[in-house]
Amino acid sequence: EESKKIVLVEDPALPVAKKAKIGHLEPLRGQRVKVSGWVHRLRSQKDIIFIVLREGTGYLQCVLSGNVAQTYEALTLTLESTVLLVGTLQPVPEGKTAPGGHELVVDFWKVLGGAPGGDEAFTNRLNEKSDPSIMADLRHLVLRGETASAVLKLRAALMSSFRESLVSHDLLEVTPPCLVQTQVEGGATLFKFNYYGQDAYLTQSSQLYLETCLPSLGDVFCVQESFRAENSHTRRHLSEYTHLEAELAFIDFNDLMTHIEAIICETVDKLLANPTTAGLIKQLNPNFTAPARPFLRMSYVDAIAWLNEHGIQHEAEDAEGNVVKDEQGNAKMVDHAVGDDIAEAAERRMTDILGVPMFLYGFPAELKSFYMKRMPREEAHGGHLFTESCDLLMPGVGEIVGGSMRMTGQDELLAAYKKEGIDPAPYYWFTDQRKYGTCEHGGYGLGVERFLAWLANRFTVRECALYPRWPGRATP
Ligand code: 4AD
Repeated sequence: EESKKIVLVEDPALPVAKKAKIGHLEPLRGQRVKVSGWVHRLRSQKDIIFIVLREGTGYLQCVLSGNVAQTYEALTLTLESTVLLVGTLQPVPEGKTAPGGHELVVDFWKVLGGAPGGDEAFTNRLNEKSDPSIMADLRHLVLRGETASAVLKLRAALMSSFRESLVSHDLLEVTPPCLVQTQVEGGATLFKFNYYGQDAYLTQSSQLYLETCLPSLGDVFCVQESFRAENSHTRRHLSEYTHLEAELAFIDFNDLMTHIEAIICETVDKLLANPTTAGLIKQLNPNFTAPARPFLRMSYVDAIAWLNEHGIQHEAEDAEGNVVKDEQGNAKMVDHAVGDDIAEAAERRMTDILGVPMFLYGFPAELKSFYMKRMPREEAHGGHLFTESCDLLMPGVGEIVGGSMRMTGQDELLAAYKKEGIDPAPYYWFTDQRKYGTCEHGGYGLGVERFLAWLANRFTVRECALYPRWPGRATP
């Protein structure tokens, strides 16, 4: 009853408080400051209330005692309320720890926006025991957590570091369209829609557009959303993902792999050299160490032999592509043969055993996209033609990069459309690249969420996107 009568007023005799963000408080120690944020944690001990405040730039311990802890608002304060706190920033007492090494001794404060208690309380909506589908529906609230927000902060740093590395290699950033009328990676995974009465698709890859930039912009890259209508409910497939793609002219296949390796290693080095991002990596993936260079390179043909030597088999399929089952209903397992796709499970076991990043290169042409440069005929093997293609595989995640050299000849490309059953008409602009001064070139695409899953040791790419989309999920 007493507490309801206490009305706080800011003491006009105190020095004017400086408004500041939590992440920039250190130089303001000993001074009076004003911060706003969300109540991230809340605990009371005797007559003292401890708030951990959060507003994106960091966490701040705030101590309320005496009158400021006795108001009605203080006694009914709830997690996730927004508050304005004013007080003196003090180093934490000897033997105690707090984020940033300091705490705010509050002399005035108010609630800006309360959050409900009771049944509607934040921790009743969402907690560690919430099941995955609830977590997905409540992604907007999950984002308030320490882990989810750390992943997204690291993601932001990762994108800037990638951009810095690419720019330092003389690549120029461009922004290709998302609404397109051509396919890049196969018709089966296209999202089709009605575009003013015409068929159009959500882009699968910006590669073809990047290729058109080479003659005047030089080597280019983009960071763009790609869309795949894949009915894959795996921990590394999204329906929409952030695709970092680059294209380079006058290179050979070896240069391409060396470039990919350099960009990845330089990006990781930049992240580790920055104390804030190094801290995020440590928090999320304490055992992370930068990968050693050069990366292992293994040809597809050698990988098939390696899988067989290690007893890693795959499910047998009949002519229609259905899994062959035995009498017990178990899938029949068989050795790999040249020409087989190396499926996700086998790929994952391989990277887990080898435990290092590796390039798998030289895939059979029939497994890869129409535009890929063929290896010389002398390299053919058992009737298979191979391509100058490479996937970069990371332990724990599998493929994070797919790249290749591209066909340079017009006739060869026209034949490739035909073989794939692609109408060349809508590709006239892509074909023109071979008509007006062709060049040896190649490029790659890196899945940002997959890269982040590797870096931050996340179980699934769904944790690595702001609002992940997978089959059936487009909410929130
Ligand atoms: O191997 P992909 O399909 O290659 C391309 O799209 C090329 N046109 C890129 C290029 O050369 N410019 O995709 C490249 C990468 C994959 O290695 C993977 O990391 C990511 O994109 N990716 C996905 N990430 C999340 N969910 C999906 N459904 C993905 N599909 C591909």
